[in-house]
Amino acid sequence: MKDGQGGPSGRIILADNLPVLREMDARSVHLIYIDPPFNTGKAQQRTRIRVDRDEDGDRTGFQGARYRSTVIGSSSYDDRHDDYLAFLAPRLREAHRVLAPTGSLFFHIDYREAHYCKILLDDVFGRASFMNEIIWAYDYGARSKRKWPAKHEAIFWYAKDPGAYTFNFDEMDRIPYMAPGLVGKEKAARGKTPTDVWWHTIVSPTGGEKTGYPTQKPLGVLERIVKVHSNPGDTLLDFFAGSGTTGEAAARNGRNYILVDSNPEAVRVMAERLGGYGAVRATVPGGSDRPQPEARITQDGD
Ligand SMILES: C[S@@+](CC[C@H](N)C(=O)[O-])C[C@H]1O[C@@H](n2cnc3c(N)ncnc32)[C@H](O)[C@@H]1O
Repeated sequence: MKDGQGGPSGRIILADNLPVLREMDARSVHLIYIDPPFNTGKAQQRTRIRVDRDEDGDRTGFQGARYRSTVIGSSSYDDRHDDYLAFLAPRLREAHRVLAPTGSLFFHIDYREAHYCKILLDDVFGRASFMNEIIWAYDYGARSKRKWPAKHEAIFWYAKDPGAYTFNFDEMDRIPYMAPGLVGKEKAARGKTPTDVWWHTIVSPTGGEKTGYPTQKPLGVLERIVKVHSNPGDTLLDFFAGSGTTGEAAARNGRNYILVDSNPEAVRVMAERLGGYGAVRATVPGGSDRPQPEARITQDGD
């Protein structure tokens, strides 16, 4: 993963994450954060499409390449919930396999799906490996007048080995006391360490952090995870990477990273976002090897 100049380096892969995970070496990754798309509960008809490179094709993909799409079938699911868990299960098993002995998984999920996913995670990692349910709480957007406004998401932390895992307590950022008048001046100025409830604003729709990719998570939340649960030089993995927030948190803190997403737009956003941090390889299986200013694009297996 090193770029040859001693700094951290990153890899971005455009692909379905399951075959990528299956190819990875066991125990090769020190920290995994994932934020899988959750089941919305909306009726979904799934259409299976085959996409082939074709200059006269109907779609434009990564780096402007043209593709032709052919519908090869469609299916709907009576039990969409079971389908979602069946989608996650093999990926979580691979995540467990590729984690280093002292590694951890952070699993970010919508509050409506969290409890079902927790049972699946307990099954894959073992109940003893469950360390925390972190609640990311924010306070933005419309407020229901018919029930308590839902303003949180869950992040489950599982340690591969609950007896030996990376936890850099001194790397925690500090937060203000709620009642600073009740503690000494010095303590109040230093702040306190966070609990399992993390108050952090969403990515501002108008701020500089925004990439434009929907579902982008705040860098502050990811940096806290990266600093406390990994060490400089470690390799971090996000296989539902979206806009690449995990990659930016890794790069800013001297960690290597591997980002996987099946959406060409996500890979484009990530390559642009991370190009400024140094060595980034964006890999498009069977794709173009033309270099971009912000990232070197290479063939898979390069
Ligand atoms: C909720 S978003 C992740 C957002 C990310 N945490 C961020 O901060 O930008 C989930 C991502 O998973 C990707 N995805 C869904 N299914 C996938 C699969 N089978 N393989 C790889 N990526 C997938 C989607 O394209 C989407 O970008």
